[in-house]
Amino acid sequence: MVLEAIRYIDGKLSIIDQLQLPFLERYIEIKTSEEGWKAIKKMQVRGAPAIAIVAALSLASELQGLAIGKKLPSSAEDVEAFIIERLHYLVSSRPTAVNLSDAARKLEAIVSSQSKNPGSTALDVTSAFIQAAEAMLAKDVEDNMRIGENGARWILANALSSQHAGATILTHCNTGSLATSGYGTALGVIRSLLSRNALKHAYCTETRPYNQGSRLTAFELVHDNIPATLITDSMVAALLSRPENGVNAIVVGADRVAANGDTANKIGTYGLAVLAKYHSVKFLVAAPLTTVDLATKSGDDIIIEERPASEVTRIKGLLEDGVIGDATMSTIQIAADGINVWNPAFDITPSGLIDGIITERGVAERDADGHFHLEELFG
Ligand code: MRU
Repeated sequence: MVLEAIRYIDGKLSIIDQLQLPFLERYIEIKTSEEGWKAIKKMQVRGAPAIAIVAALSLASELQGLAIGKKLPSSAEDVEAFIIERLHYLVSSRPTAVNLSDAARKLEAIVSSQSKNPGSTALDVTSAFIQAAEAMLAKDVEDNMRIGENGARWILANALSSQHAGATILTHCNTGSLATSGYGTALGVIRSLLSRNALKHAYCTETRPYNQGSRLTAFELVHDNIPATLITDSMVAALLSRPENGVNAIVVGADRVAANGDTANKIGTYGLAVLAKYHSVKFLVAAPLTTVDLATKSGDDIIIEERPASEVTRIKGLLEDGVIGDATMSTIQIAADGINVWNPAFDITPSGLIDGIITERGVAERDADGHFHLEELFG
């Protein structure tokens, strides 16, 4: 069975509650933008593309409910104003991933242009929004499949010797079906290698402090029968230092790629890029163009979300003798009382450490002077 983070059928949105994974596969219904905002804030859904899609579809569901109940604002302009206010509110849920503000900007432009059409009604503006939000869901999956193909092709051509028994790839955080509308970005590249019979092995990091790697990526890898091994973040240097492990490339996702290629991604990514350089392992970022933000010049301009200290001082899981189910998930303290904590959710990998940025339009590489030209992907 295909793992779906986001289900959207006939205007009804539900998401898998990622706070319960890997122990419980439970879907929760999201009927309004407020419920969407809360689910994103609480990390019941996370991952840059998934956040954007859930935000858009939560508002689509709310509008559908209002239309059915005949409670929509009465004029096209009033619906436009309502949608724009709700989009701004949704964007405030998490600051680093650009996909959410990119989606909001595009949706705002669509409803504004529809509302300005002579004779446009409240229902016309509502329908234009719902259709555009639904199209975003479908496009994200298509883009991910292309990213997977482009990445697999690049790795086979550039990261392996001619006599190879398949690629060994390390990935970080969760970039799979749970972080997108489906298939995934960096995990999509791994899937695509597997489907070509060209994946030897995948490694996933635990991804402290929130453990998206051990809770979510490990779950997806097991769910989809992908040959894989979980390591803690501190084991990567040792893994790469042993040639017999044969790691060919590190492939990660992104929350925002600046115009110069500097990339914000899950905390720990920068360290992986430094290790890749030291060990001559290819380092690749896989992301749709909705993650590339040409308006942000460099990594210095990216706001990094800081998260609660409790994510570092406590850990949530299933007690060894626990029964699988909601009531048995426990949170335990793992740090000394009173210690100060710094918990940035993301870091910036400088573009000079990145060998390629894999997108649905192809793989961007640095020129002879070491610069990316990401604007060319938008042509
Ligand atoms: O804090 P999260 O879990 O939302 O962070 C997710 C990541 O950093 C992912 O690598 C990124 O969003 C890309 S997901 C395709």
